[in-house]
Amino acid sequence: MIKYLPFAPLVLAAAISAAAAQDATPDLSLLPAGPGRELVGAKCGTCHAIAIVVGQRRDRAAWEQAIDQMIGRGAEVSDAEYDTIAAYLGTHFAP
Ligand code: HEC
Repeated sequence: MIKYLPFAPLVLAAAISAAAAQDATPDLSLLPAGPGRELVGAKCGTCHAIAIVVGQRRDRAAWEQAIDQMIGRGAEVSDAEYDTIAAYLGTHFAP
């Protein structure tokens, strides 16, 4: 029994990180109503808080650059989703 003890912290750490991942429900309360709201919540609120996104003001072209950067970081966004997200952010979070 004692020889399994050193592995206990690893198992615990895995359990905690799984729970943290599940808790990362996107917070839509910061997003105004409009086409693309749920999509932005789903696509842009998983790796970091939505607050990171909506704390910024950019025009649409600059939002597209931000989305490009996020795709480079691993965000999965189809062409249609890209347009919807860029239009939503460029409309509601313009300078
Ligand atoms: C695969 C993970 C991932 C996804 C999905 C993601 N981001 Fe990010 N984002 C990051 C990382 C990593 C950073 C930099 C670290 C940080 O600030 O937390 C970041 C930072 C940001 C920043 C602030 C820093 C900067 O470059 O100005 C903005 C704005 C942003 N993300 C927008 C978005 C938008 C919009 C989406 C949805 C299209 C999105 N993110 C989806 C990983 C992601």
